[in-house]
Amino acid sequence: MIVCHCNYITDGDVAATVVEMLDQDPWQLIVPGKVYRALEKRGKCCSCFPNVVEIIVSTVEDYHERRRSEPDEALRLVSRLRSMSDNYRQSLGIPARAS
Ligand code: FES
Repeated sequence: MIVCHCNYITDGDVAATVVEMLDQDPWQLIVPGKVYRALEKRGKCCSCFPNVVEIIVSTVEDYHERRRSEPDEALRLVSRLRSMSDNYRQSLGIPARAS
């Protein structure tokens, strides 16, 4: 599914890039700008960023679940990502996700 219409980026492109980044450093904080830089793209209208953040969060969760990472560390990282996502959504006036 296309997640960024300005750059023709799919959800699979984002998820694959996030996994590549996590393989390099599993505890890094990944934001849309880092993903787009890795894909050699740039945010144009940036209306896709809230959905890209959601893909990042779910990919990080799945990654650490598969790796059976230390649960406390993984939970802290995912909490930071969710907080970033909530703040971003709030700044754009987008309703918070259902928990
Ligand atoms: S939809 Fe992604 S930058 Fe515009």
